[in-house]
Amino acid sequence: MASKHWKRGAVAIALSAGIVHLLVVAQTPRSEPLLPLPDTVTDVEPAKVRLGEKLFADKRFSGDGTVSCQSCHLPHAGGADTRRHSVSAFGKVRELNSPTIYNIRYNTAGLNWTGRTKDLHAQITGSVGNADTMAHDWKKVIDILSADAPIAAEFKSAYGGDQPVSQANAMDAIVSFEKSLVTPSRFDDWLKGNDNAITAQEKLGYDKFKANGCVGCHNGINVGGNLFTKFSMVGDYFADRTAKGRGHMVELDKGKFAVTKKPEDMHIFRVASLRNVAITPPYFHDGAVDSLDEAILLMGRHQLGREIAAADRKDIEAFLKSLTGKQFEKK
Ligand code: HEC
Ligand code: HEC
Repeated sequence: MASKHWKRGAVAIALSAGIVHLLVVAQTPRSEPLLPLPDTVTDVEPAKVRLGEKLFADKRFSGDGTVSCQSCHLPHAGGADTRRHSVSAFGKVRELNSPTIYNIRYNTAGLNWTGRTKDLHAQITGSVGNADTMAHDWKKVIDILSADAPIAAEFKSAYGGDQPVSQANAMDAIVSFEKSLVTPSRFDDWLKGNDNAITAQEKLGYDKFKANGCVGCHNGINVGGNLFTKFSMVGDYFADRTAKGRGHMVELDKGKFAVTKKPEDMHIFRVASLRNVAITPPYFHDGAVDSLDEAILLMGRHQLGREIAAADRKDIEAFLKSLTGKQFEKK
């Protein structure tokens, strides 16, 4: 888990994909509200993924050369940030916690905490120019990359053509890299029919996750990422946060409303994906909660109107830990 390198699943290795497929079909998949991740990604090209990984870590994408995409989406922190609020180019702090980019291709309700961004291409176009992120200009970035002979050569071998170093290709490389980041877990093995893939406590925690109603919002292939709801539904999370000394309500706490200004969008957020949640603290869009136990407690209280007992939270936490990608679990 301490590795500073991105850990992706196998990318398009046809032979091993075939073997994995044979192993999987030997078991009977379960019928559950959560769906398993595939073991392999076959729709991206390794050369583009490798180039994208380099660009993702390239600080020349920011206006003052201080941050890369990776500064806020850390490979050793589950693709998220360990800081409550990330620091952008020119030292600007935005009052949001960086979400993970692992399994991002399966967040079908749009991107960012409010789902305001259509897809991965739109996300990159926006963040390079955004004063709150990279504060740079695509044209300048492309000029810099074109003048870097080794990088230009990598563009050429990945994309060919007369002008391989272009915004379209740089975006495609980063998107290819992002699409390669899938993290099948032991829980996926269980979903695919392997009874022994999770422990008795993890199974019990999953039953409690369903029985308490968490699964009503956190479901599908990313255990979230496919719906929008109000946060919070019961009581007032923001007033409680202020009372705990963790900050007054700010504009970004208004969720989708901050983007659309429509009254019905007040405090509407995308349901967070819970894949790798055990390794991506702090929690919520505001990064105001450090422990998973407290996040589970607050979800019960504010989304479901129930006080989940400590013993039940422990079991649910054990289940959530089984969603950590196998590549992060100690061998
Ligand atoms: C300064 C920190 C920072 C930098 C640098 C940064 N990001 Fe992010 N990223 C964030 C934050 C914060 C969000 C959530 C923004 C929101 O909800 O409005 C986010 C959201 C995302 C998302 C959507 C995640 C989701 O769950 O929907 C993707 C994909 C992403 N960033 C990729 C990138 C790429 C590619 C770059 C480089 C071009 C980049 N980020 C640079 C902080 C950063
Ligand atoms: C009514 C829908 C709803 C229900 C029910 C619900 N959640 Fe959530 N959950 C959300 C939303 C929306 C977010 C994102 C909130 C934010 O950060 O603004 C979230 C975020 C989370 C997070 C933090 C993820 C992160 O990366 O920051 C955890 C952990 C979590 N939920 C667990 C649970 C558990 C456990 C239950 C059951 C006790 C549950 N949720 C029930 C909607 C729901």
